[in-house]
Amino acid sequence: MKIFITGGAGFIGSHICEKLYESIPKSKLLILDKLTYAANKSFLSKILIDKKRVKFLQADIINSNKYTNLIKNFDLAINVAAESHVDRSFTNSTLFTKTNTFGAHIFFQNCLNAKVKKIIHVSTDEVYGEKLSGSFKENDKLNPTNPYSASKAAAEIIINSYKYHLKSNILIVRGNNIFGNRQYPEKLIPSCIYNVLKNKPIKLHGNGKNIRCYLSVYDFADAIYLLIKKNKIGTYNIGNNKYFKNIEIAKLICKALNVNPRKYIKFVKDRPFNDKRYSINISKIKSIGWKPKRDLRNEIENIISWYSKNYKIFKLKISNL
Ligand SMILES: NC(=O)c1ccc[n+]([C@@H]2O[C@H](COP(=O)([O-])OP(=O)(O)OC[C@H]3O[C@@H](n4cnc5c(N)ncnc54)[C@H](O)[C@@H]3O)[C@@H](O)[C@H]2O)c1
Repeated sequence: MKIFITGGAGFIGSHICEKLYESIPKSKLLILDKLTYAANKSFLSKILIDKKRVKFLQADIINSNKYTNLIKNFDLAINVAAESHVDRSFTNSTLFTKTNTFGAHIFFQNCLNAKVKKIIHVSTDEVYGEKLSGSFKENDKLNPTNPYSASKAAAEIIINSYKYHLKSNILIVRGNNIFGNRQYPEKLIPSCIYNVLKNKPIKLHGNGKNIRCYLSVYDFADAIYLLIKKNKIGTYNIGNNKYFKNIEIAKLICKALNVNPRKYIKFVKDRPFNDKRYSINISKIKSIGWKPKRDLRNEIENIISWYSKNYKIFKLKISNL
């Protein structure tokens, strides 16, 4: 199986690459990544050793001439590349549209031109907007509320429109918040860990009461693999139903690091708009035999231990976060 994957040197992408490399023994991977601030090629070091099976290409997803010829007749292409941090999208929104919408469209069109047999696009639960009670199902209306989620929703709408005029095999997955090692320490969990390790305050938006669910990156990669194995197309929510307020996450991390939360947690000005709660219904993905296996409370020690050893690999200084 020949697989093309974008964004493979980032947090989620690198875990998906490892999962597919290990689970599909004869697969060949072509990994494309622009290597933005969030990426690190060393995340792929375990699999890049195998030069026969894994190739890496540093390129922007938008530069189709760099990769169209390389992916001719591939079996599968997975688009994971994105600008992924909501806070940054308020100040640099056009970059988000460029990568997440235009880039995704170019990726998609080029996969079709290259006659790639199946295409997976990694999206987010944020495309639905906030849900104060209940959970969103896959066919619910998209109602993004920030430039990041709008750029992801726009990509989905473009990609989905193809299924009406082309008989293409398209799978869109909408993940909820993902946790694990390798995540750039601007996102809530790694930024809490990073700041405490550096003896700096944990900055929480608003009153810290926004609610999110958190899924292990290993569970997410398992779900992608299962969807590939079962040759599923369409749209799937991938997440879990363990709800955490932001302040609960900060306290959990303070407890694990044995520090007093009152000393570290500071409340800062909220985002211009901050969805109060996200929630997705995962019965569709559960019906094919997947369920989340890992729990944030049990995994937090491992994640902290990884950041304690590896925080120096992230390019930006903590003062910029
Ligand atoms: N992190 C989460 O909690 C979460 C939740 C749901 C969905 N997602 C989605 O999963 C995907 C991966 O997220 P992540 O958290 O791993 O992000 P990340 O920021 O850690 O990694 C993104 C990767 O994409 C690469 N990239 C960015 N722009 C590129 C471009 N123009 N061309 C080629 N490569 C480019 C970066 O170099 C990086 O390696 C994104 O599509 C995101 O929307 C993330």
